Amino acid sequence: MGITGASGIEVAIEILQILKDNDEFESHLVISDSAKETIRHECNYDEEQIQSLADVTYDVHHIGGAIASGTFPCEGMIVVPCSMKTVAGIACGYSDNLLLRAADVMIKERKKLVLMVRESPLSPIHLENLTKLAKIGVDIMPLVMTFYHRPQTIEDMISQMAARVLHQFGVVSSGFFRWGEAEQS
Ligand SMILES: Cc1cc2nc3c(=O)[nH]c(=O)nc-3n(C[C@H](O)[C@H](O)[C@H](O)COP(=O)(O)O)c2cc1C
Repeated sequence: MGITGASGIEVAIEILQILKDNDEFESHLVISDSAKETIRHECNYDEEQIQSLADVTYDVHHIGGAIASGTFPCEGMIVVPCSMKTVAGIACGYSDNLLLRAADVMIKERKKLVLMVRESPLSPIHLENLTKLAKIGVDIMPLVMTFYHRPQTIEDMISQMAARVLHQFGVVSSGFFRWGEAEQS
């Protein structure tokens, strides 16, 4: 999992917390330099607390970290939140840090890569880069508000976003509402 300097780090924290309670999956985390800044601005957790939720952490400048190699065994990668700068780097194959390199490896190894992007409004440049990635099979899953499960709090929305992306990897968690379930409960 990669965390970049876009808004929405709470979703990354929720994902890491769900994975921490899951014996089947091991989480490997890399945090960009800019994310360290947004963590300070937006988050109740500090960088160390976020890192402590992951099984393995990497320095974003350690370009030789295990996740830089196509031989690293994994189900895939989630970048959350994903900035437009990181989208541009991935779209151009410009892998000058470990997070970008790991995403590049997912594409070259034909593994699952999900980008939980966050920016508003989106410029034509952002949209071009996102379209390019979507066309080669990268999942673009924007951090957008969710309503059908009738959230009462922001935390309810965060849970749904986190559970929804993990559902794509076969991770079952309690925060996930399928269409129709909210009305039944
Ligand atoms: C508080 C704060 C919030 C930001 N939110 C966003 C955002 O939502 N989306 C985005 O694309 N960039 C956002 N940025 C800008 C990125 O942090 C910046 O482009 C940075 O270079 C991204 O680098 P990275 O992708 O390596 O983390 C934000 C910056 C700050 C300081």
